[in-house]
Amino acid sequence: KLKVVTIGGGSSYTPELIDGFIKRYAELPVTDYYLLDIEEGKEKLEIVGKLAQRMVQQAGVPMNIHLTLDREEALKDADFVTTQLRVGFLEARITDERIPLKYGVLGQETTGPGGFMKAQRTIPVLLDICRDMEKWCPNAWLINFTNPAGIVTEAITRHSNIKTIGICSGANSMMMDIAKAYSVEKSAVDTRIIGLNHLIFADRIAIHGEDKTDDFINKLAEGSANNSLKNIPDIGFTARFAQALHMYPISYLKYFFLNREMVETAQQDAATKGTRGEQTREIEKRLFELYQDEHLNHKPKELEKRGGAWYSDTACSIISTIYNDKKEIHVVNTVNNGTTPDLPDHVTLETNAVIDKHGAHPVAYGRLPVKIRGLIQSVKAYEELTVEAAVTGDYDTALLALSINPLVPSATIAEQILDEYLDVNQRYLPQY
Ligand code: G6P
Ligand code: MN
Repeated sequence: KLKVVTIGGGSSYTPELIDGFIKRYAELPVTDYYLLDIEEGKEKLEIVGKLAQRMVQQAGVPMNIHLTLDREEALKDADFVTTQLRVGFLEARITDERIPLKYGVLGQETTGPGGFMKAQRTIPVLLDICRDMEKWCPNAWLINFTNPAGIVTEAITRHSNIKTIGICSGANSMMMDIAKAYSVEKSAVDTRIIGLNHLIFADRIAIHGEDKTDDFINKLAEGSANNSLKNIPDIGFTARFAQALHMYPISYLKYFFLNREMVETAQQDAATKGTRGEQTREIEKRLFELYQDEHLNHKPKELEKRGGAWYSDTACSIISTIYNDKKEIHVVNTVNNGTTPDLPDHVTLETNAVIDKHGAHPVAYGRLPVKIRGLIQSVKAYEELTVEAAVTGDYDTALLALSINPLVPSATIAEQILDEYLDVNQRYLPQY
């Protein structure tokens, strides 16, 4: 028996996970797959659940799909718990995005103030799930995809005893971009990655074991390669900057290195085609129409319009690596523990780690190059205060977290954004 639970089971991403488990059934025979959601998510859960049932039937794998709103029933004796929940649904994402934009500050789901606010809503829920896991499945693994994944993982590792790994589709999609640039399979690509969630740099790139770092940087500089996450406006770096940085940055880093341009684009988008959250609401509407079609029995192509496309490549293969004690290397969010002496030992970072049945063992990195050190350290300090604010509900800590975020240019603006945020999010913030 192998029991897996997905919290936020009614998410439009669930077919992605089902597809991943079906593909890996021979090595990872999930006998019972529980999709758990809350009352408000019941309708979506039923639609997604029925599609999941059609998918496993079509594939001919004996995986029992269970739909439930009962957390105890779902968690009881689970082996793996994955989370992809969104407290406040897309409506909350949209206010996270829109409020900072009014002040000329980036409004984005995970980077800048939006990530801070999402963390305030999400961390109490995740820590509550951890407490329930301590009761009902204390040995289970928590594979967290809930954003802001790095900050949430930081909160879980600091405030619970549950074994956890934080995951993101970002590194995988960077590797897919590299593979595409060289017309090879993704399995031929090796990268060394260092940073924080949505703040990672690849500083070594190899194809079939051959170093291609300089070559790939040339491709980036000339624009023939790019990290193209669907959710991030595609503004390029200058060739000069790409060469000077000499690392492959995830698209999210454009919010830092091209902040002015990215904020302007976000403001224009908000006024015309809508924020990413608003666009996502449309994509989701369409996805749920498709999911309701009784003839659909596979993951639809349209799911690739989401930023987290292919996220099961990361989630399901990490679960399989733990389950089978494979010792594969994946890019994950885990505790620093000396990986780099330039961050405190107890904080989380996102980097290459060997994964086995005991969990993630990050590969030693050493000192951070000075060109990326300051950014990583200051965003980490912001993340630490963000976790502390989410746990204590202390206003001053929240204000300081926002004020030291490199994307917030003024403490006075931080205060205004915070006040507006707290006001519209009141019902999701028991700690404040
Ligand atoms: C990326 C990130 C995910 C994020 C997603 C957003 O892939 O790694 O953490 O959830 O994009 O995509 P969306 O379609 O919701 O804008
Ligand atoms: Mn991510």
